Amino acid sequence: MIHLIWDLMTIEFVVVTCIAILFGVWVGFYAAKPRSLKGKHVMITGGSSGIGKYLAIECAKNGAHISLIARNPTLLEEARVEVLKFASVAEQKVSCFSVDVSGPYDQIERTVLQAEEELGPLFLLANCAGYARAARFEDTSVEEIKRLMAVNYFGAAQFSHAVISGMKGRREGGIVFVSSQGGLCGIYGFAAYAASKFALRGLAESLAMELKPYNLTVTVSFPPDTDTPGFAEENKNKPEETRLISETAGLFSPETVAKVLLDHSLKGKFISTVGFEGLLQSVVCIGMAPITSVFDLLVQSFTMGIFRLISSFYLFKFDRIVVKCMENRDLKKRSQ
Ligand SMILES: NC(=O)c1ccc[n+]([C@@H]2O[C@H](COP(=O)([O-])OP(=O)(O)OC[C@H]3O[C@@H](n4cnc5c(N)ncnc54)[C@H](OP(=O)(O)O)[C@@H]3O)[C@@H](O)[C@H]2O)c1
Repeated sequence: MIHLIWDLMTIEFVVVTCIAILFGVWVGFYAAKPRSLKGKHVMITGGSSGIGKYLAIECAKNGAHISLIARNPTLLEEARVEVLKFASVAEQKVSCFSVDVSGPYDQIERTVLQAEEELGPLFLLANCAGYARAARFEDTSVEEIKRLMAVNYFGAAQFSHAVISGMKGRREGGIVFVSSQGGLCGIYGFAAYAASKFALRGLAESLAMELKPYNLTVTVSFPPDTDTPGFAEENKNKPEETRLISETAGLFSPETVAKVLLDHSLKGKFISTVGFEGLLQSVVCIGMAPITSVFDLLVQSFTMGIFRLISSFYLFKFDRIVVKCMENRDLKKRSQ
């Protein structure tokens, strides 16, 4: 009799779990309809190059008006002309504003006001402006450590601060932060950079909870190495260890990263990653991140243990790379 009850309970557990998984898959794949960008205003910091520029192109294809923010006016104008070519309707507008995201706050507020006057109330803010410097921590100047934080973190914080009240009033839209895989996992040579990208995750998590009752979404993207002018610049002085470790996740095109990011943001997902390593890292580092998809919750719940185990192989490999590079350097020094 006890056996029979036990068997029935087991069958019930399996059936309920299967229904939950199927429901999650259905919600994840079919029910999550992306919001439309037609006629909406999207502001993209760092929109003159790399991931930001390709994000602008994707938004243009989706019918949005776009404001591009960066410092160099020539590159901004070139990007404006290029993005406009992808507009899906003739009325679409693309404007550009030369601003340093780490500059004075009143300048940023003025830029947001001016952009909204030209292109209408803001629907989506994408904080893409940023840069990486790879170097051992003791070889990174204190000025560089402060600059990375000023651009990568404070730049995004300032722009988000300037747009939030208006967005809350309209109760639609969202904010995107472009962090990095280095914002989920600290690796050799990225101490100063990773800190600025980890900071974005904390900001985004808290903001997501503050903005949810206002129907606003927050998305954080954690891109792997992406083939952009910024990445080419970062590679110029990259320590061998950093290069070998970050290569593990592969090199992606900015088109792919931007497409995935926009899709996730329009579906209201909190975390946006690309590729298997991105998924693995995001699951292992999920913590108490907001739940924005039942499908993702199920994937995270069922794969967390095994992914943590797999991550130990990566960490072992990374530690071996660091030791090997040190041995090679020592050998070279002795032979000189
Ligand atoms: N490429 C990668 O492998 C990779 C991987 C992970 C994360 N990311 C992140 O993705 C974002 C975009 O990177 P990317 O590779 O596309 O870089 P990118 O090609 O160098 O583009 C960076 C953009 O940000 C702007 N920018 C930089 N500093 C600025 C400032 N102080 N004020 C205003 N605008 C500024 C640049 O224009 P101006 O210089 O004219 O201002 C440019 O439009 C960055 O946050 C980066 O950390 C990149």
